[in-house]
Amino acid sequence: MKPTQKPKNPHFSSGPCAKRPGWSLDALKDASLARSHRAKGGKAKLAEVIDRSKALLEMPKDYLLGIVPASDTGAIEMALWSLLGERGVDVFAWESFGSTWANDCKKQLKLKDMREYKADYGRLPDLAQADWSRDVVFTWNGTTSGVKVPNADWIAGDRQGLAICDATSAVFAMKMPWEKLDVVTWSWQKVMGGEGAHGMIGLSPRAVKRLESYTPTWPLPKIFQMTKSGKLIEGIFKGETINTPSMLCVEDALDGLRWGEQVGGLNVLVARSQANYKAMEQWVEKSGWIAFLAEIAETRSNTSVCFKITDPWYTTLSPEEQEKGAKKIVSLLEAEGVAFDIGAYRDAPAGLRIWAGATVETSDLEALFPWLDWAWQEVKASAAKAA
Ligand SMILES: Cc1ncc(COP(=O)(O)O)c(C=O)c1O
Repeated sequence: MKPTQKPKNPHFSSGPCAKRPGWSLDALKDASLARSHRAKGGKAKLAEVIDRSKALLEMPKDYLLGIVPASDTGAIEMALWSLLGERGVDVFAWESFGSTWANDCKKQLKLKDMREYKADYGRLPDLAQADWSRDVVFTWNGTTSGVKVPNADWIAGDRQGLAICDATSAVFAMKMPWEKLDVVTWSWQKVMGGEGAHGMIGLSPRAVKRLESYTPTWPLPKIFQMTKSGKLIEGIFKGETINTPSMLCVEDALDGLRWGEQVGGLNVLVARSQANYKAMEQWVEKSGWIAFLAEIAETRSNTSVCFKITDPWYTTLSPEEQEKGAKKIVSLLEAEGVAFDIGAYRDAPAGLRIWAGATVETSDLEALFPWLDWAWQEVKASAAKAA
């Protein structure tokens, strides 16, 4: 039977993610538009994003945070290009984004002393292989496989190398162990539901020291440059952006941060995401046709939750037919207006991916589950009819 109750908000995409509850375009009415971003008002707003982010995320006082071009990709590549090459590098990758950073190191930067540790979708590589006398690059939460690192126990407190972490779908929904991380990057369109545009880069004092003491042998485009004549460009970390930002996006980022503060801060944001994940766990247990792509429970993402279909009939289908079946579920739900963009990432195994970050209401997920079961039954029934 087709369910009757629809989620109030059908936005379950893993990026750009759902806006915060109650959001409307009105939230942007105070944006500093048609003025220089270097004028007093604009610069104050940029600095406010930095200050509110640092406070909400409980970043250590001696860490720096900057707004940089080109979203999370811009932020992490700026770090790779600016910092790597001083010593050997270990790169850990277990899904599409981590693999991209590994390819950057291998094929673009052509690092000579690089070790790569990879795992297939659903698993983590052996993190104990990390050698902390070297730099280590990894993704905290693999958005395309729904596998996250469970903790920071594997990161040495007394490391000599830098821990460089792409944390874009983790920050604001998972507690970041700042003292164990030297570079942390993210974008605005994930857990806080902001607009996609700019990246954030957080730096530990040790990362700053590296920037000021080491010059890579390769050329650095202007938008990657964080130093001038061997000194950190401090303005970047006070809201003086390298190039022109979107002040509309800045206003939206501020709206998200204010909402995060109003609901109760980081603990509440993390708890909202975890409650969403718990609801999914209960549904999966009852469903009988679907399972988490992440094999080990403690590595399962509580933001980008990825699923594989385990029904015995489905698993005998060819990979093409499996993909068709999963896509049919997605299109049926989209046509009903109950869920948008919940297909697995294009490079990931066939299945579903549902965002469970802090802006998603648990009640909307609970309204979605009967629809998922319904769509699955529809796909199976239409295949039986065709046979
Ligand atoms: C883990 C991770 N890294 C990087 C990216 C790329 O982010 P952006 O589009 O902000 O550059 C994404 C996007 O979903 C991601 O999930």
